[in-house]
Amino acid sequence: MNTECFDVIIVGTGAAGLTVALELAEQTSQANEKPTIALISKGPIHEGATLYAQGGIAAVLDEDNDSIDFHVKDTINAGAGLCHEDSVKFTIAHGKESIDWVIDKGVKFSKEEENDSTYHLTREGGHSHRRVIHAADATGHALSEGLLAQVRQAENITLFEHHMVVDLIVSPHSEIPSHTSPSQKSIEKQCVGIYLLNTQTNQVTEVPAKFTILATGGASKVYLYTSNPDSSTGDGIAMAWRAGCRVANMEFNQFHPTCLYHPKAKSFLISEALRGEGAKLKLIDGTLFMHKFDEREELAPRDIVAQAIDYEMKRTGSDFVYLDITHKSPEFIKDHFPTIYKRCLSFGIDITCEPIPVVPAAHYTCGGIMTNLDGQTDISNLYAIGETAFTGLHGANRMASNSLLECLVFGKAAAEKIKTELQRYVCEPLLPPWDDSRVTGSEEGVVVTHNWDELRRFMWNYVGIVRKNKRLLLAKQRIKLLQREIDDYYRQYLINSDLIELRNLATVAELIIDSAMDRKESRGIHYTLDYPYKDDKKFLKDTILVPPNYHEINSC
Ligand code: FAD
Ligand code: SIN
Repeated sequence: MNTECFDVIIVGTGAAGLTVALELAEQTSQANEKPTIALISKGPIHEGATLYAQGGIAAVLDEDNDSIDFHVKDTINAGAGLCHEDSVKFTIAHGKESIDWVIDKGVKFSKEEENDSTYHLTREGGHSHRRVIHAADATGHALSEGLLAQVRQAENITLFEHHMVVDLIVSPHSEIPSHTSPSQKSIEKQCVGIYLLNTQTNQVTEVPAKFTILATGGASKVYLYTSNPDSSTGDGIAMAWRAGCRVANMEFNQFHPTCLYHPKAKSFLISEALRGEGAKLKLIDGTLFMHKFDEREELAPRDIVAQAIDYEMKRTGSDFVYLDITHKSPEFIKDHFPTIYKRCLSFGIDITCEPIPVVPAAHYTCGGIMTNLDGQTDISNLYAIGETAFTGLHGANRMASNSLLECLVFGKAAAEKIKTELQRYVCEPLLPPWDDSRVTGSEEGVVVTHNWDELRRFMWNYVGIVRKNKRLLLAKQRIKLLQREIDDYYRQYLINSDLIELRNLATVAELIIDSAMDRKESRGIHYTLDYPYKDDKKFLKDTILVPPNYHEINSC
């Protein structure tokens, strides 16, 4: 690959990356030229959390019964006091327009009746009204395929599949990554490009750009059990942190209440939309239990349902609970939940006539890289959108189906902003070259595999659904040791994708642990036995972590 200068580099091909790419590609810049765009995915182009999204996208579409105010109120309630009202209002106000845009791009959603013009809206936890538009139970697949088809037709988008961004190049004050020579700093104080690893050849190239957008998704792979695909390793958060961006609210990693419990069903989600259509949670002996925890029962927000299941599993000593939708007809179930029906059947579970064994699993990163409402981060010309970003929308607990909405709304907002700025900047083509002359090939790959496993295991056991000071302290000690080992390894050996992801996971794990230690109360998804109650006097605020090089970057 040559080092062509791009106007914009977009890292990530999920809902956020595809939206900003299409919006930018369509927009002519002020000089009437279309911007050149590099769109990068570390794996196959469609792979990421977006592809697996099930329930749908929340927006106010039934204006007779629902309203922006109701959606705002529900989001703020679910967020347990920490949502930023400006971000909530901004996102929800742009909901309908974003859905219209997606439909215009060719994405097909489920209708009430086949030939009807009315879309079927479902309900999920925390929502007071039916407002979730969906494509049966495979909304992410429909969204991803629809947007990708458009991206493939855009002449000014160059796709880089199987390319992993290793680090951001920030001038002049960022820490220069260890594989570059300190004498080779460039002169501007902004993000000027990236180091890009071709994961098939293991070659690293520097790629310059006027603007870089991180749309790299969440970090739920930091936990042993997760609904997320392998790509959710928090790369964007770790890269932005190393480059000098602040991150916020990392203690709020959401656990989805219902993932399929089966030894062979790796990370398969059972959508909250089942509960939206009346499915009930039951203990193994068939007893209902959600009424003991919240008057909204199965439709309480996720933090409450996940903590209730965890409590009941520990109390009864069982490995799972049941989710039962057999009150609905087989036709309804097969029509509304075809993916879940087929997947469960492949494991011998017929959900039309028997309950589904389920357990909670790590699902969504509510915290992330701090941005404003245009997606701008602390570093000039560096944007972050989608699950990797912290916009203040989700507070201490994201409400179901607000995530895809955020990807669309902020993807469009970032594109609008960049469009107005493109002509102000020139591309800096001379970037410090990647230098791997002092490292060698490793014959100790087992160290990487072992550390991956250890990290995810102690995060699950010590920093999971229910936390404790003592466990957090143990996790902190473990992560310090691991960080040292990983840093040594990184300095000695040639990099590959596993090592890069492990390095990023370790960074994100430490950010989660530090944030969880700072919050000495229980709120939303963060529940600790040492401080079991909310403390509005001291903790009605975000947990903001500031990287060591933040002031350096922002003082000139
Ligand atoms: P992703 O879709 O995760 O995409 C990340 C992209 O970044 C990928 O292309 C990846 O290859 C790329 N990438 C990452 N790191 C690098 C790197 N270093 N170099 C190059 N590329 C990189 N939300 C809802 O609103 N409604 C739902 O119904 C819903 N259902 C869900 C079901 C499941 C099973 C899961 C896992 C999540 C669900 N969510 C849902 C959450 C939602 O899907 C995600 O939050 C959202 O899709 C994130 O989109 P994104 O564009 O930010 O990231
Ligand atoms: C689901 O379908 O339960 C997932 C919805 C979400 O994560 O927003």
